[in-house]
Amino acid sequence: MEPVPPGIDPTKAHPSRRYNYWLGGKDNFSVDRESADTVASGFPTVALAARENRKFMARAVRYLARDAGITQFLDIGTGLPSAGNVHEVAQSIDPAARIVYVDNDPVVLVHARALLTSSPEGRTAYIDADLREPGRILAAPELAETLDLTRPVALMLVAIMHFVSDDEDPYGIVARLVDALPSGSHVVITHATGDHLTPEQYEEAVETNRRSGVPFSLRTRDEFARFFDGLDLVDPGVTSVVEWRPDLPPEHRPRVEDVSMYCAAARIP
Ligand SMILES: C[S@@+](CC[C@H](N)C(=O)[O-])C[C@H]1O[C@@H](n2cnc3c(N)ncnc32)[C@H](O)[C@@H]1O
Repeated sequence: MEPVPPGIDPTKAHPSRRYNYWLGGKDNFSVDRESADTVASGFPTVALAARENRKFMARAVRYLARDAGITQFLDIGTGLPSAGNVHEVAQSIDPAARIVYVDNDPVVLVHARALLTSSPEGRTAYIDADLREPGRILAAPELAETLDLTRPVALMLVAIMHFVSDDEDPYGIVARLVDALPSGSHVVITHATGDHLTPEQYEEAVETNRRSGVPFSLRTRDEFARFFDGLDLVDPGVTSVVEWRPDLPPEHRPRVEDVSMYCAAARIP
């Protein structure tokens, strides 16, 4: 992906472009590929984890749109446009679905046009903002213009919370967003974990993430479950992304340890 658009630092790896590389995309710089390969040297199945995370997201959006009656989505940490963006999955079930995308990567902003291809009955919007400033997201005019916050919304935080370190108040950020949504809204989160790794694999994963230049926090099952305190977990509760309402029988699913991602969906009471 050369030349570099203005305002973009090609010397610093960014999560969206690494994820794009793991998913087989071309919207990444050499610094992103090097960072991605460093992570893969400590956790060799990371590309599989990215693909399984993306498949989970599609199943979760289908569940929300079809079974939970959700017609509005706030997708924070959208990533570069790729097959199965939230609006494509949701509007394939309900063409009137409305989606607000949020990301802080300027390269995602450059590609945002591909996220704004709403069906005529529905609507999509993009906000260039940082999850760590939830007040800015909630005050953005595009949010109020696109979503009706008196009706249920699905807050999607898919593969983003592990980029928020403990000293940045990850639980406070989620609580702030949840508090802004009415009863009947849902929250979907996925998160990397080291719980299924051996102590040696865990050390290796932490060390290669540290060297990759992108701050990253693996969290335990209890630490992950804390994001849902006070909410009603949807069946099957906290589980691996490969085991949440799967399309495939167990023998065709990857091993939980090769993916090492927790997920859950919950309803706001
Ligand atoms: C691993 S990608 C996940 C993309 C998509 N949600 C999915 O699961 O397929 C993480 C995304 O979160 C974005 N991100 C990371 N930290 C962020 C922050 N503090 N504020 C907004 N976006 C952030 C990155 O730019 C990237 O696009």
